Amino acid sequence: VDGAAHRLTVIGTGYLGATHAVCMAALGYQVLGVDVDANKIERLAAGEVPFFEPGLPELLAKALDSGRLRFTTSLAEAADFGDVHFLCVGTPQRAGSYAADLRHVEAALITLARGLHRRALVVGKSTVPVGTAARLTDLMHAVSPAGDAVELAWNPEFLREGFAVDDTMRPDRLVFGVSSRWAERRLREVFAPVVDQGCPVLVTDPQTAELVKVAANGFLATKISYINAMAEVCEASGADVHDLATALGLDERIGSRFLRPGLGFGGGCLPKDIRAFMHRAEELGVGRAVAFLGEVDGINQRSRERMVDLVRDLAGGDLRGVRVAALGAAFKPNSDDIRDAPALDVASALHRAGARVWVFDPVAMANARRAYPALEYGDSAFDVATGADVVVLLTEWSQFREIDPAALRTVVARPRIADGRHALDPARWQAAGWEYRALGRP
Ligand code: UGA
Repeated sequence: VDGAAHRLTVIGTGYLGATHAVCMAALGYQVLGVDVDANKIERLAAGEVPFFEPGLPELLAKALDSGRLRFTTSLAEAADFGDVHFLCVGTPQRAGSYAADLRHVEAALITLARGLHRRALVVGKSTVPVGTAARLTDLMHAVSPAGDAVELAWNPEFLREGFAVDDTMRPDRLVFGVSSRWAERRLREVFAPVVDQGCPVLVTDPQTAELVKVAANGFLATKISYINAMAEVCEASGADVHDLATALGLDERIGSRFLRPGLGFGGGCLPKDIRAFMHRAEELGVGRAVAFLGEVDGINQRSRERMVDLVRDLAGGDLRGVRVAALGAAFKPNSDDIRDAPALDVASALHRAGARVWVFDPVAMANARRAYPALEYGDSAFDVATGADVVVLLTEWSQFREIDPAALRTVVARPRIADGRHALDPARWQAAGWEYRALGRP
């Protein structure tokens, strides 16, 4: 194997790209990470991961020490550096629309392609609307000096925040969306260390690969909204969604994962992905096929509103002047990501309704303060709970699950807790004298 085969570039060093670059270096490749954001590149090059992800800082430090990982802002340098280029730039929701914003992907690809003078494989990892790879291939061929010798494949990424390193090193499956045997061979070579550990590989065309990603996220979102819809039915009928979910989950065909009721899904992926999927399906003339995702989104939004209603109820019908302790800000535990975070959405709605909301999160405080300056912030769960009329669990960090209800009771004004994540044991809290409430439970 010649030297170039061991050199990879990773374009876009956000959540996905930074993790991918570090993991590829850990697997033994020479990796060049590229981003337009000079500040991000400087921080990464100095060994600082710009977001919270367990295990990643240690792995970044090792990769930098080994000399196998470097960072640059120059796509021209990247084009020259290696022959396999991973495209990991973000595809956020376009302002004022459901569509995905592909400007960053297009800009990165065009600039890279202009510098490609020899045969190369560009591998898209970003989540994109089905059909994007075909369109980008034409763009790329038109601007690259190497013309058709440059190929575009799609290899969707399924990593979860909080488990990013593990999901990258030991994924459930690898999907290679390729247009040639050569591209398949190159991808098999690159991912050999992962495949050799027994990871299944599915080889398909690029459009199917693009679709696998959005279809998977659509399914996961649907599963969560399904159980939250059942929570609404449980409330109306006096049934208990917690027991319902446990019983459903024991059916192996259904499975218990992603069936936890509560505040619903947030983050930078599921909400925008189902919206972009609906938008793309409309364009393709099959909007009706995924129209149910509009309901999935609606149920999800409603869970947040119902949570506000539950807290109001617990507070005696009026939120004005009520002191609320909000435990959690991140969209889920083990993350400092507050994009579309149900926790902060609920906290700010409580604030707008007149409550005094004190927030604590183990790692997302800086992000929360920046985005929600009107809320108040404390130093610990006990700190924000001091004098509280209602405690609300919004993100199920393990340190919150482990709180001793008897100890917390001694600092609050009134022992009332709303469990937005079905993460606490009601019997334990009730035994300690708390009024416990959760969505979908009597
Ligand atoms: C999600 C997918 O799980 C990944 O497979 C995918 O690669 C990623 O999006 C992406 O597209 O990049 P992530 O956004 O990190 O990963 O978070 P999840 O662990 O999927 O959680 C999403 C949301 O659903 C969180 O707000 C979580 O609290 C909520 N959730 C999850 C529930 O409300 N109930 C559940 O049972 C499970």
